[in-house]
Amino acid sequence: MMKEIESRRSVRKYQTRPVSEEAVRQIIEAGRLAPSGNNSQPWKFLVIRDEETKKRIVAADSNQQWMLDAPVFIVCMGDIRTRIPEDVLRCVDEDPGLPDMRRIVRDMGIAVGYMLLEIEHMGLSTCWTGAYEQKAMREAAGVPDYMYISGVLPIGYAAEAPKARPRKSYDDMVRFEHWE
Ligand SMILES: Cc1cc2nc3c(=O)[nH]c(=O)nc-3n(C[C@H](O)[C@H](O)[C@H](O)COP(=O)(O)O)c2cc1C
Repeated sequence: MMKEIESRRSVRKYQTRPVSEEAVRQIIEAGRLAPSGNNSQPWKFLVIRDEETKKRIVAADSNQQWMLDAPVFIVCMGDIRTRIPEDVLRCVDEDPGLPDMRRIVRDMGIAVGYMLLEIEHMGLSTCWTGAYEQKAMREAAGVPDYMYISGVLPIGYAAEAPKARPRKSYDDMVRFEHWE
């Protein structure tokens, strides 16, 4: 696994080469099989190829025009109803800080992380994007209020080879037995 973990980059330039339905299915399969608290599996995935919908999504996602080169987007969402009854919370925007909402956000992270690594393994590229307000992105993607949108992945074959971005050192982030 370290090979893909080390070689993965956020890519923001893509070739026009299409991405097959089978490839999209395999990427989603990586997310489907991810672990989640209580095996709650909150994830839902919306696959977008339509250019007009892509443009609306990009406009909501801080107008990151480079995304449009990617032939397919996957909108990665957590269905809040998997943990929270609708009479407690109907819409993520109204979340008063419920622990269950945080659990959904947590579980989405691992599913999307698995997808990023499978995309790399398949020779494809992406960049997790999340520069949007929930409501604006729900409207752009046409998804219901009970979806928490954890990221939009533009997916394609890379047309750039970015250098590794720096990471903090091992010593900076690890302690043994005691923190201080
Ligand atoms: C949750 C999340 C949201 C992100 N949102 C954006 C984004 O909206 N636009 C963007 O260009 N990059 C975005 N990124 C990519 C980060 O900038 C990138 O992962 C980081 O700089 C490290 O670079 P690397 O992925 O190439 O290792 C996001 C990454 C994560 C994990």
